[in-house]
Amino acid sequence: MWNDNSLAGKRVLVTAGADGIGLEITRAFAQAGASVLVCDVQGASLERLAAELPAVHGCRADVSGEADVAALFETVDRTLGGLDVLVNNAGVAGPTGGVETLALADWERTLAVNITGQFLCTRLAVPRLRRGNNAAIVNLSSAAGHLGMPGRSVYSASKWAVIGFTKSLALELGADGIRVNAILPGAVDGPRIRAVIAAKAEALGKPLEEVTRAYTSQAALGRMVTARDIANMVLFASSDLAANVTGQELVVDGLTQALS
Ligand SMILES: NC(=O)c1ccc[n+]([C@@H]2O[C@H](COP(=O)([O-])OP(=O)(O)OC[C@H]3O[C@@H](n4cnc5c(N)ncnc54)[C@H](O)[C@@H]3O)[C@@H](O)[C@H]2O)c1
Repeated sequence: MWNDNSLAGKRVLVTAGADGIGLEITRAFAQAGASVLVCDVQGASLERLAAELPAVHGCRADVSGEADVAALFETVDRTLGGLDVLVNNAGVAGPTGGVETLALADWERTLAVNITGQFLCTRLAVPRLRRGNNAAIVNLSSAAGHLGMPGRSVYSASKWAVIGFTKSLALELGADGIRVNAILPGAVDGPRIRAVIAAKAEALGKPLEEVTRAYTSQAALGRMVTARDIANMVLFASSDLAANVTGQELVVDGLTQALS
């Protein structure tokens, strides 16, 4: 049964945990008594986090950079003294537009953060997780990781890649007792989704209200999800309540059948 100690003492790394959904995940782990290290590319966000949650460790790192990730895991050893949970949360929205309008640099940058970043962090996390306590990896995918998303092809491709990575790792690491799951959020209310909707409205030449309505009406529940909804699922997937859950697509999207 879930109780206040369900995550107490867990050593957790949250990538891109200083803002957006990652910040809510960080808050949830900290409230649950876990020891948390957060990395982020934005120094200002890390400073705000330090003021809000002084017990949480912070480290500046870009998950797509091999040297940054190596330094990050030295910080993991120094501050947490081991690792039980890796949350591969870092991800960028990528460019919006028809495939023929996309620049190679934008395509490559999106893949570099959204999937290569998960690879770089996981590669260094696994030896530590093997020595960990009921270890788990949670990878942030998206509803666009099991549906197509017109105008966001590289984002969708990167999030489908997360699913293949997750299922392969679950098979590879099952014998070590390491569970690996993906979380597929629908549209999460917040500044990022508003920027995505604004970019889409501009690309389609449609009014902002119409595109916003399309985003909310595409879920059976008729609303966006919250960052807290995603943090709740991350906590569950990281806890011993999910002891036999691995290789799964954990969808938190109010039942979204298509993305526009
Ligand atoms: N917001 C949504 O509606 C939504 C929906 C589905 C999936 N997701 C996924 O959830 C995750 C978090 O999304 P979000 O909306 O909170 O993102 P966000 O754009 O709000 O960014 C959150 C944080 O990521 C950091 N960051 C960006 N690039 C980084 C990098 N290379 N290395 C380290 N940190 C980096 C930023 O500095 C920021 O602090 C992403 O993987 C995203 O694709 C988001």
